[in-house]
Amino acid sequence: MTAQHPVRGDVAVLVPAAGLGTRLGGGTPKALRILAGESLLSHAVRRVAAAPSVGYVVVAAPPEDPGAVGPLPGPVTVVPGGATRQASVAAALAAVPDEYQIILIHDAARALAPTRLVEAVAAAVRAGWDAVIPVLPVVDTIKEVTASGTVVGTVDRSVLRVVQTPQGFRRAVLAAAHAAATDDHTDDAGMVEKLGVRVHIVAGDEAAFKITRPVDLVLAEALLAGTLLS
Ligand code: C5P
Repeated sequence: MTAQHPVRGDVAVLVPAAGLGTRLGGGTPKALRILAGESLLSHAVRRVAAAPSVGYVVVAAPPEDPGAVGPLPGPVTVVPGGATRQASVAAALAAVPDEYQIILIHDAARALAPTRLVEAVAAAVRAGWDAVIPVLPVVDTIKEVTASGTVVGTVDRSVLRVVQTPQGFRRAVLAAAHAAATDDHTDDAGMVEKLGVRVHIVAGDEAAFKITRPVDLVLAEALLAGTLLS
């Protein structure tokens, strides 16, 4: 584990990126795709670390090759991840000093999540919510369909939200959710919901979109070239 220990904000951010080395079939893992000369992971780390509330950042790296995450903007602590995303989050959480009681979990593919979104999630946890997620309204019409390809009905989208990261948690609640979880979860708030904890929503940000498809990289380049991001 490489570690530097800044003391600034009261928030620690975990970025699980340990799946990087496990994919077969070639191609660059999502989080290591290059955007404006820097990996998505590096962008994500740099942006969350710039938030005044953030005092500690931990990246879970592939245990077989922690160096695979490449150079990251410091200060950041890199720990070996686990066999599943959930295990990687647990390993990253274990590396956070006890004084950090507000934990954010961030997806490296949401590389352009702005500082103000990090602050909004952190502020809601600080205000007393045990779990906080940033969300956006659903803009498309959503249909429920059968496996054979016919429409069952139209879902009322007014009660639906698209979920982004960073997601924020009071540390004890996140730790309890991990201790109680039996299946592997890809959504940290989902684990907390299972404990019966109320999850609070805050307004998400268009810039925190998940960069997955080739067109997303084009959009990200355009955003970076413009003045839309803070
Ligand atoms: O593979 P998948 O897209 O589900 O991974 C989601 C995120 O979880 C990725 O950022 C990946 O690096 C991370 N992950 C991890 N540890 C694992 C598997 C995935 O940190 N063992």
